[in-house]
Formats: sequence, structure tokens, C-alpha cells
Amino acid sequence: MMATNSSTARKALIGAFISLLLGINMVQADTIGREQAAANVTVAFLQELGEAMTREMTKGGPVEAIKVCAELAPEIANRLSRENGWRVTRVGTRVRNPLLGMPDAWEQNVLEEFAARASKGESLAGMSHGEVVTEPGGQYFRFMKAIPVQPKCLLCHGPAETIPESIKTILNQQYPFDAAIGYQAGDLRGAVSIKQPLGKQKH
Ligand code: HEC
Repeated sequence: MMATNSSTARKALIGAFISLLLGINMVQADTIGREQAAANVTVAFLQELGEAMTREMTKGGPVEAIKVCAELAPEIANRLSRENGWRVTRVGTRVRNPLLGMPDAWEQNVLEEFAARASKGESLAGMSHGEVVTEPGGQYFRFMKAIPVQPKCLLCHGPAETIPESIKTILNQQYPFDAAIGYQAGDLRGAVSIKQPLGKQKH
């Protein structure tokens, strides 16, 4: 009797343990899937933006190129947000447009972590971070991909004295509190940030 009981108990314990392991694996698999999907979207975003920037700078000129960062970037972010049911945004380490570009507390921490990783020699090119975060509003999967400063960004984000007068005039008019200047090529400019509500995803 004792033996049966203890072997039943042992089986129950093993069963619970296995389902716990499986449960954890399923959560892990789910997170890996989300991370991959988020990474794909950030890469597509930056690629589309980068190509448009190069095209407008060579064809349209600097004033047209301003529209790429000022209008096309939020437009793509909005489209990707609607299509995926996530919030897709761009945030800066220093900000030109506080309405769209200001990081929240979590994003600020991750940007600081990116800067620390970069100072230890890790390349910004492939740098990202994903995590499940519990906030007062619920649980979210959050993901950020670093945006490095490229030489072509310096026209509008470089040191003030190197920004052409024509651009400076427009920036001063439209962004009187602009803090997104003074960058060097290779600096961390900011990140693409994705926030997915957990449990309300379509698969
Ligand atoms: C021709 C000018 C111009 C160039 C070149 C340019 N930007 Fe911008 N950038 C802007 C403007 C204008 C804004 C403000 C956008 C807005 O109003 O939301 C901005 C905003 C941003 C933001 C959002 C955070 C913030 O400061 O508001 C990021 C990130 C950014 N730029 C990254 C880049 C990167 C990376 C490059 C190079 C690949 C680049 N920019 C090249 C003009 C430019």
C-alpha cells in the first residue's frame, strides 16, 4: 500500500515536473518566435528608410531628404504598427521631435545598455534586445534594435558647424528645441522599438 502510494506520488511529481518543463519550453519557444518576428520588422523598417534617404539625397536634395526622416519614417512606423498589431516607433538617444522620438523609462535603460555594450566593443550593426515586461497596463513583449549613425545622417544630425545653412534654417524653424545634433558616424543614434501586447496576438 505504502509502495503504491509513493510510486503514484512519484509519477504525479514526475508528470508535474515534465509539464512544467514543457510549459517553460513553450514560453521560451513563443518568445524566440516573437523576437524573430520583431527583428524582421525592424530590419525591414531600417532598410526601407535607408534606401529612401539615399534616393532622396541624390535625386531630391537635402530638403526632400528631410521629409524622409520627418514624414516617411513615422508613416512606415504607423503602417507596420497597424499591419502587425504592435506599436512600432523610433526613439533617439537625443531627440529632435519629442512627441515621437522620446524614449520611455524601459527604452532609456535599453539605450544605455546598448551604449555600454558598444563601449565594450560590440558592433551596433546587429545589436538588439528583447524581453517580456510587466507594466501596470499588462504584459508586453518589448524589443529594440539599435540604430547606428551613418555618414549620410551627419548632414542633419552631425555637429552644428558642419550642417549646411539651408538645412539649419529649416531645422531651426521646425524644431526650435532640437537636441539631435552633434553625432559622429558610428555613434548610437537611437533604436527602433516594438511593443506587443501579450495574449492578444493574431497568429
Ligand atoms: C535631411 C535631414 C536628415 C537626415 C539626412 C537624417 N535625418 Fe534623422 N531626422 C531628421 C528630422 C527632421 C527628424 C525629426 C523627425 C520628426 O519630426 O519626427 C529626424 C529624426 C530622427 C530620429 C527620431 C528621433 C528624433 O530625434 O526625433 C531618428 C532615430 C533619426 N532621425 C535617425 C536618423 C538616421 C539614422 C539617419 C541616417 C541614416 C538620419 N536620421 C538622417 C532629419 C534627417
